[in-house]
Amino acid sequence: MPMHPTGPARKGVGTLSLANTIQDADWKKEKHVPVIEVPESVTAGEPAAIAVSVGKEIPHPNTPEHHISWMKLYFHPEGGGFPVEIGDYRMLAHGEAGEVSAEPAIEARVTFGKPGMLQALSYCNLHGLWQSEVQLTL
Ligand SMILES: [Fe+2]
Repeated sequence: MPMHPTGPARKGVGTLSLANTIQDADWKKEKHVPVIEVPESVTAGEPAAIAVSVGKEIPHPNTPEHHISWMKLYFHPEGGGFPVEIGDYRMLAHGEAGEVSAEPAIEARVTFGKPGMLQALSYCNLHGLWQSEVQLTL
C-alpha cells in the first residue's frame, strides 16, 4: 500500500505530542534543566546578553556516552502569536581525544522590541528533553 500523509497508513499520527515529552523541574535540584539568565535591565531596541546553560548548580556529565547534545532558545512575544526561535546551539565534542568538550553554556545577543517569555530547551542523549522559562520585561 503506498504511503500518503493523509491516507490510512498515517492513522494514529499526531497522538504523540512532543510537548508531552518535555520535562520541567527546579534547575537547582535537577541537573538537566537549562538556566536562562537575563540582565537586570533590558531596553527595547538594544542588544541584550541572554545566557543559557545546563549544569549551573549541579554539573551534568560531558562524555561520549552521556552529554547535552543541544539547546534552543525561543521567545514568546506578549500578546500571543507563534514562538520565535532565537537560536539553536549544538555541542559536538564530549571528551574527544580525552580532553576536548563543548560545554552546554552559550551567550546570545538579542534585540527585543516587546516583552514576553523566554523559553530554553535542552536535550540529554540519555534523559531526553528539558525546558525552562523566564519573563522578559523591557
Ligand atoms: Fe543526562
